[in-house]
Amino acid sequence: PLIDRLFNASQTEIELAQKLGIDRAIIVPGDMDRQDRVVDLMGEQLNSALDLLLPLGKSIITVLGGTTVAGVARHLSPKLSRYRDLLFVPGRGAVGESVEIQSNTVAQMMASETGGKHKGLYLPENVSSEALTLLLQDTDIANAISNIYNSDMVIHGIGRADVMAKRRGLDVMASSNLRNDGAVAECFGYFFDQQGRLVKRIPRIGLQLEDLDKIPHVFAIAAGVSKAAAIVAYMHHAPKQTWLITDEGASNLVLKGK
Ligand code: BG6
Repeated sequence: PLIDRLFNASQTEIELAQKLGIDRAIIVPGDMDRQDRVVDLMGEQLNSALDLLLPLGKSIITVLGGTTVAGVARHLSPKLSRYRDLLFVPGRGAVGESVEIQSNTVAQMMASETGGKHKGLYLPENVSSEALTLLLQDTDIANAISNIYNSDMVIHGIGRADVMAKRRGLDVMASSNLRNDGAVAECFGYFFDQQGRLVKRIPRIGLQLEDLDKIPHVFAIAAGVSKAAAIVAYMHHAPKQTWLITDEGASNLVLKGK
């Protein structure tokens, strides 16, 4: 396909993308579980891919949180803003996670690296639907949400179910239920088992999995041997236009699996 020629895909990258049912996979050398520099290599790849895919003019980029997306953020370059007007918005209001890896922080980092703009969204992760209805009447919040729905691109990570259950503050009971149900992946508040079956969903404000279909460009960034199962599980739901940026550690395992 055109996309492979445009971006010099290797045979392994083409195989990985086909296996996962997505447009493009980019594999950097190494295993993120053991080598810190892997995240830097992925950051450089993300920067080149953004330069290739982002149209000139205005773009809204929705950014999720997590250690991986936070790690690649510092590799975005001011060159991306030449002839472009970039607005980075957080995909969630999450103030539950530690500050450095919240989507608000990452969106702000990306804006400052590229010389783009940033808009914050500061909301608790879990609110009742009554409270949500009230919050959405606030103009700032309503605008932030509408930016998310109108975004041209989403950049997100893929988490391991066990790690994310802890980070999202699930209690012992809920975590053990997840384990018993075979959850291996978490993405956008959805927990999936190895076959991609939905095991649990934490209702949240902000970007939902269904919304991804309408977004022209989607980047999933996840790497390391320990993330292979989570990547496979989530990819059952990833929209076709997804580009996965990963490493050899994860991709070798994914390609070995049936
Ligand atoms: C975030 C996603 O971008 O990355 C989460 O919104 C996902 O759903 C998380 O679980 C993974 O974080 P990490 O730290 O493993 O990169």
